[in-house]
Amino acid sequence: MKERLQKIIAKAGICSRRAAETLIKEGKVSVDGVVVTEMGMKVDHRLQKIIADRVHVRFTEKKVYVLLNKPEGFVTTMDDPQGRPIVTSLVKKVPERIYPVGRLDFETKGALILTNDGELAQRIQHPSFEVKKTYVARIQGKPTAEELKMLEEGVELEGKLTAPAQVKVYRQGKKESILEITVHEGRKHQVRKMCQAIGHHCIELTRTAYGNLNLGSLQPGKFRYLTTKDLARITKTAKTVQPVKPVKRNKKDNKKDNKWKR
Ligand code: URA
Repeated sequence: MKERLQKIIAKAGICSRRAAETLIKEGKVSVDGVVVTEMGMKVDHRLQKIIADRVHVRFTEKKVYVLLNKPEGFVTTMDDPQGRPIVTSLVKKVPERIYPVGRLDFETKGALILTNDGELAQRIQHPSFEVKKTYVARIQGKPTAEELKMLEEGVELEGKLTAPAQVKVYRQGKKESILEITVHEGRKHQVRKMCQAIGHHCIELTRTAYGNLNLGSLQPGKFRYLTTKDLARITKTAKTVQPVKPVKRNKKDNKKDNKWKR
């Protein structure tokens, strides 16, 4: 978000707004290496480098964690050459710049965490921590007991066996079946490919949980802020990860969050 230069300098605690105006007038402020003397210039401090009176103007952003119920038809990349809708457009109300943790296919729905905490993101998505992800897959046809066992024990994808998965059968029909599949790897299109590998095309895929964190009653396209308890829940299934430290939030944030209480 762009704001007036003098306001940013004051907000960062460098000096008062009036003093910031004086600094600008005196040619002591630069944006991306260019001295600015014009008053009222609008700047995005997250994208542009501001120096005021030889001090780098920086903000320490508070860490935020969000759980989004991603609808179908959104990409989890930050921009898309094909111009398809981007998942961050659904979390515009979050003032901090947050990024998806890992990926979900364009057609896949469900639990997606977004955060500006790069360290946590790395920890929970790295395969070595084995954080479980649970999917509900609607597949074509009725898998046999043998096929289900293959899915559990590992199928070969691109020459490499998948790690053991947990598989539950929700519904089995001649035309379609519904399975719950829990994996801890994050290979591209993994669940869809696993279903294909046992001969059953995946028609619909929803991630219902990330670690022990469920979507609950969160509606498609909606998000909620994660609490400390939630964060501990995500990392609980991780191999060696410690729960992250409590996030300090103000009363207003908590009020907003209660809307989503399960
Ligand atoms: N597996 C898939 O096939 N797609 C996803 O989006 C996530 C896991």
